[in-house]
Amino acid sequence: MIVKPTAETIAEAAQFLHDGKLIGMPTETVYGIAANALNEGAVRATFEAKGRPSQNPLIVHVASLEQAAQVAREFPARAIALADEFWPGPLTMVLHKSASVPLTVTAGLETVAIRMPDHPVALQLIQESRVPVSAPSANRFMSLSPTSAQMIAPEIASRLAMVLDGGSCHVGIESTVLDLTEDSPRILRPGAISKEQIAAVLKVGMNDEPQAERRSPGMYPKHYAPATPVEIVSRLEPEQAGLILDTSNGPNQIEMPLVAGEYARVLYRSLFDMDQMRVKTIYVQSPPQTSEWNAVWDRLQKIVG
Ligand code: TXA
Ligand code: MG
Repeated sequence: MIVKPTAETIAEAAQFLHDGKLIGMPTETVYGIAANALNEGAVRATFEAKGRPSQNPLIVHVASLEQAAQVAREFPARAIALADEFWPGPLTMVLHKSASVPLTVTAGLETVAIRMPDHPVALQLIQESRVPVSAPSANRFMSLSPTSAQMIAPEIASRLAMVLDGGSCHVGIESTVLDLTEDSPRILRPGAISKEQIAAVLKVGMNDEPQAERRSPGMYPKHYAPATPVEIVSRLEPEQAGLILDTSNGPNQIEMPLVAGEYARVLYRSLFDMDQMRVKTIYVQSPPQTSEWNAVWDRLQKIVG
């Protein structure tokens, strides 16, 4: 069921998508469960596959600015500026939704999260399906997001008509989610596109208050966790299993990159590998506290709970 993306398999997957089936879609961040966002049955099947509460909204993936403009009620100047700079890429923008987007996708909200993924297979799939594509990360609710086709859990894979194997995700953590529906833009979920990068394009102040009105799944205190308990420590003893920043010296230790973006790229994969080793606890050596590490720290804190 995991297939190599070719012109033929992508065309077949696009037809499946169009017809309301679910597809495992590679993106630059993590793999997603793709569905035709205009087909409520397909969207409902997505929530069932994830075991995810239906009050958690999905991101709609598009392949062009034109398609983004159809999904949003209006596509304001600042969204255009951000799209120019960061799309295709790991930035999701929350805007007022157009009437074409079912409330099943947005969990009843009048706003919709939109992004254009930076992966040739995803872009071709969306384009050929001729519909906007909703896609949450392809994991069961509260488990790690997959960053390769092989990391997709069997319970999820069994619900997918096809998984397109687009290789390892080069960003490795979920997109930055930015709310543009209020006067000041606000980051709802940190990711590879930083607050500083967004502020530099918009030249406005950002709202730093955490979003209080409603819970987003990315904001549950515990999320993305592997099955094994995880503990953050300042250094690992040689016999402790886990992710280490110093030169690896134990057999159950994975040496992690010292650059934040590279660390993020391999974080879920490394936790997945540790999980498979069936150790009692995964110890994670605390990364630096500087702003480049914000998104990594956000995920680590959610993993620890
Ligand atoms: O990188 C990603 O964003 C991946 C890939 C597959 O594109 N997708 C992903 O989807 O992480 P998911 O469903 O696991 O997370 C979607 C996030 C959640 O934090 C959700 O609350 C937020 O986007 N979100 C979606 N629609 C929203 C809305 N209308 N208002 C506020 N937050 C929204
Ligand atoms: Mg997710």
